[in-house]
Amino acid sequence: MSAHGPEEDAAGSLRPEMEPTLWRKSRPGAKGVDPPGVSPERVVSGIPEGLRREIPLSLPELSELGVVRHFTRLSQLNRGVDTHFYPLGSCTMKYNPKVMDRIPEIPGFRDLHPRIDHEGMQGLLDTLHICEESLGSLLGMDAVTLAPAAGAHGELTGILLARRYFESKGDRARTEILIPDSAHGTNPASASMGGFTVHVLPSGTDGGVDLVQLETALSEKTALVMMTVPSTLGNFEKDLPKMVAMVKATGALLYMDGANFNAFIGVLRPGDLGFDIVHINTHKTLATPHGGGGPGSGPVGVKAHLAPFLPSPRIRKDGARYVLESPETSIGPIRSFFGSTLVLLRALGYLRLLGQEGVRRVALYALLNANYLRVLLSGVLPRAGEGLCAHEFVLSAKDLVAQGLHAQDIAKALLDAGYYAPTISFPLIVPEALMIEPTETESKDTLDRFAEDFKRIVTVAQSRPSVLKESPLRTPIARPDEVTAARDPVLTDPLSHPPSL
Ligand SMILES: Cc1ncc(COP(=O)(O)O)c(C=O)c1O
Repeated sequence: MSAHGPEEDAAGSLRPEMEPTLWRKSRPGAKGVDPPGVSPERVVSGIPEGLRREIPLSLPELSELGVVRHFTRLSQLNRGVDTHFYPLGSCTMKYNPKVMDRIPEIPGFRDLHPRIDHEGMQGLLDTLHICEESLGSLLGMDAVTLAPAAGAHGELTGILLARRYFESKGDRARTEILIPDSAHGTNPASASMGGFTVHVLPSGTDGGVDLVQLETALSEKTALVMMTVPSTLGNFEKDLPKMVAMVKATGALLYMDGANFNAFIGVLRPGDLGFDIVHINTHKTLATPHGGGGPGSGPVGVKAHLAPFLPSPRIRKDGARYVLESPETSIGPIRSFFGSTLVLLRALGYLRLLGQEGVRRVALYALLNANYLRVLLSGVLPRAGEGLCAHEFVLSAKDLVAQGLHAQDIAKALLDAGYYAPTISFPLIVPEALMIEPTETESKDTLDRFAEDFKRIVTVAQSRPSVLKESPLRTPIARPDEVTAARDPVLTDPLSHPPSL
């Protein structure tokens, strides 16, 4: 048996063909739509002479069916959440109800010009205000800004709020941010962009924050302690209440990276735990897929003492109307208009669809699915972290290195078995990490099947490591030079016509 499942080892025979570009499929004279009674000459005659093209428009020529099949085939060359299990830890690619796509399409939202006067967008302001209040109540925070365009943007916003807060108190000594090494990688980057020095806290042997290290690092220079909850090892910090008390005693602020909101939504509230600032990723939890380069949204919630500094404009209810305000104390605008509005509308729609009990079930199923899979895979590869996990867990393929294999080889074999790969080589504190997040939307059958395939692949890795090196055999491209692909991508087909003028 191979690592890939059924008995086939004729390398290449399973590899789907690359889909040719539209230019290669183009045939002169092929047409998409040919509306009756509308001749090109008639259309052209309606355009003033001086505005007509001198050089014909250079476009591939295809039938409508040819175009539909091209894009459908392209979409199927990938492992996507609509077709495959996608256990990409830290990136939460879960199924999102398609009905949510309808909300941004509602003409009242879709057709609103962003520069219209606020009097003409009362409906949108009302909706965004409800969204702020809903998130504030789920987070246990006094005020929320919807402006940040991504998780990391939310972090930067939170950090700028902390800076302005200490400036307003005349405290300029707080120049440091403490960040555990199990925090998300964007945290130190955002802290540094926000003008702070980053002090990394090494984890203890159980993967949690080491309280002695925290105590030693805390000083009158500490502005903020940034915690990723659950941590990137997929653990809830067991000493969190003690840590909160230690940080508060120094006058520093506490920041929660709550991007993994699906691990605790409706179950615990960062504000109740003592956090001053929290950001979430709506594009991980609330009906917008993460990744793919699409728009994200990283709302930030704060306690009352930080509310005066929130980005402008602020939406304020004034009687029955909404007005926009830019308070003097604000850190100013951080994003055009009101943030990624259409993503926020999906988020609010999803919250309303689920209701209070439904959002709680999101977290409970995320935790249940991850722990179920964790138990199924226990003993297959060593795990980083102990006890129950949160919504994800991290295995290490370090024992396979002696066989010449890496986490990547397991990931490539999983592609052949019909899955998107787990996140690999992250978090950095785990050698040969495989970070697995089943998400709340997967069924027991899918998890059982994945566990069986994962086990089979690890068995093959241990007994016949060279087989894994052949993977993947079922993807159009096997193992590209990833550095060249990222740094020097070839994005044009030499056959394509030069762009027309
Ligand atoms: C825990 C955590 N924090 C922050 C981020 C950064 O979010 P974004 O990619 O939207 O900037 C992510 C991204 O997945 C994350 O998992």
